[in-house]
Amino acid sequence: MRRRNAMLIRALARLALGAVVMGVSAALAQVTDPGVRKAATDGGPPPPLPGLSAEQLLFFQDGLQRFQEIESVSNGLGPRFNSNQCSSCHSQPFVGGSSPAANPLYSVVNAAGATNQMPWFIAPNGPVREVRFVSSNGAPDGGVHDLFVISGRSDVASCNLTQPNFLPAGDPLSGRGGNRNLVFRIPTPTFGEGLIEAIPDSVILANVIADAATKQSLGVFGHPNANVGGTVNRSANDGTITRFGWKAQNKSLLVFAGEAYNVEMGVSNQVFPQERDDGPGCQTGVNVPNDGINMPDPAQPLSAVAVLSDTEAFAMFMRLLAPPQPAAPSRSSTHGAAVFASVGCALCHRPMMTTGSVGDPAFTNQPVRLYSDLLVHRMGVGLADGITQGGAGPDEFRTAPLWGLGQRVFFLHDGRTSDLLQAIAAHASPGSEASRVVWNFGELSPQDQQDLLNFLRSL
Ligand code: HEC
Ligand code: HEC
Repeated sequence: MRRRNAMLIRALARLALGAVVMGVSAALAQVTDPGVRKAATDGGPPPPLPGLSAEQLLFFQDGLQRFQEIESVSNGLGPRFNSNQCSSCHSQPFVGGSSPAANPLYSVVNAAGATNQMPWFIAPNGPVREVRFVSSNGAPDGGVHDLFVISGRSDVASCNLTQPNFLPAGDPLSGRGGNRNLVFRIPTPTFGEGLIEAIPDSVILANVIADAATKQSLGVFGHPNANVGGTVNRSANDGTITRFGWKAQNKSLLVFAGEAYNVEMGVSNQVFPQERDDGPGCQTGVNVPNDGINMPDPAQPLSAVAVLSDTEAFAMFMRLLAPPQPAAPSRSSTHGAAVFASVGCALCHRPMMTTGSVGDPAFTNQPVRLYSDLLVHRMGVGLADGITQGGAGPDEFRTAPLWGLGQRVFFLHDGRTSDLLQAIAAHASPGSEASRVVWNFGELSPQDQQDLLNFLRSL
């Protein structure tokens, strides 16, 4: 026990030192994050999964179009919301992805005459952040508090809501400091989501026991965020493994689409039928739920696509979206992949899982090169956000899938950094399962560290 503590302290000491070494090495151009990888496809149309049928491609195109639609109050926007379009937050390096380099919320905050103030943790060159309150009025909270209200907009007659109080302010770019009751999350990309949905629970569970001896020696555990037997969370779960979101808190793309439509945009729907805030004068004559299936028009030819609700169409689009395309391997990135495995990153960031035999050939027995085990791990006091979701506790997060990482601008659940070295260093703090792996990383030669970073930016 004493020896384990001593090792941990050495690891942390080394990290503190590492921060200095990293700074110095950056000045010497020794080990640096190569930065966001550019590709010819940037800003272009998102590609569908290979092998889809003509009918599936129709659903993909329809969902893509709805994912980019800007909602107004007459379509159900608000009364509280974070943005007015799925693709405003999911757009890097093209529609479906994560937060772009130029913050899209500046075109949303005062749209249609709204009188919203921009919260301090939103910066022009920072990530989109949504905010959760750890507690409210002295009671545990944990829920998302939307940034904006529709009050004052030209399409609203009488709705008097005020924005939450987010003060005192901290650093706008990193979101650090300031009001200690606020915790943040940035958008996760939605590429290749249908493949993730098609991974059987048994494949995820096999990773829990794989490499047990190595994991034990490095202090890496992890468990699936399953509400087994309803012991922790008695919501309408079926006991199978949840896998989407920073804490692997959501079961399916349909559930996530429904949640996002209501939470991010205030559009109630089939999956989440109630309005989150039903203040008087704020429901401007639209049906509740705001979004549902569209009854066929007898005067028009029957169209399967047109009948879908927006929520179903969003889920379809994300399910049929291709996984990220890595860069061609170089000598450095190939060596970096081997280093990534040898220091222990791959114990959590599993390079590949395989989908099950689900029938549809586009999803059956396909490799999913996501670099995640889809398990939640204890990440220590440095990353803890104090939020519990299902089986994921206050310092637990889903191993972030690293596919597409090369083209990402912001890292970690709260988007605190854009530098891969900082993202790696943040893995080590008291209580983190990753501390020793980060120590191993710190022991590498500068060349090996650089190769590992080049590998990450090739993803
Ligand atoms: C204001 C920004 C914002 C908007 C608008 C937004 N999202 Fe997101 N999205 C996020 C954030 C933040 C997360 C991470 C949430 C978490 O894990 O708690 C996320 C995560 C997701 C995920 C999970 C992906 C994964 O594998 O982890 C899906 C799916 C998703 N969003 C779909 C949508 C859809 C569909 C819409 C439109 C209805 C939408 N989002 C609109 C910010 C946004
Ligand atoms: C114990 C499991 C574990 C190990 C070991 C581990 N990671 Fe992670 N990694 C995670 C988790 C969990 C997150 C998400 C943490 C958060 O956002 O708070 C993450 C996030 C990341 C991110 C940011 C991804 C994003 O979407 O923002 C990078 C980059 C990363 N890890 C690289 C590495 C590298 C390189 C190593 C090896 C030196 C490593 N990780 C070792 C679990 C692990």
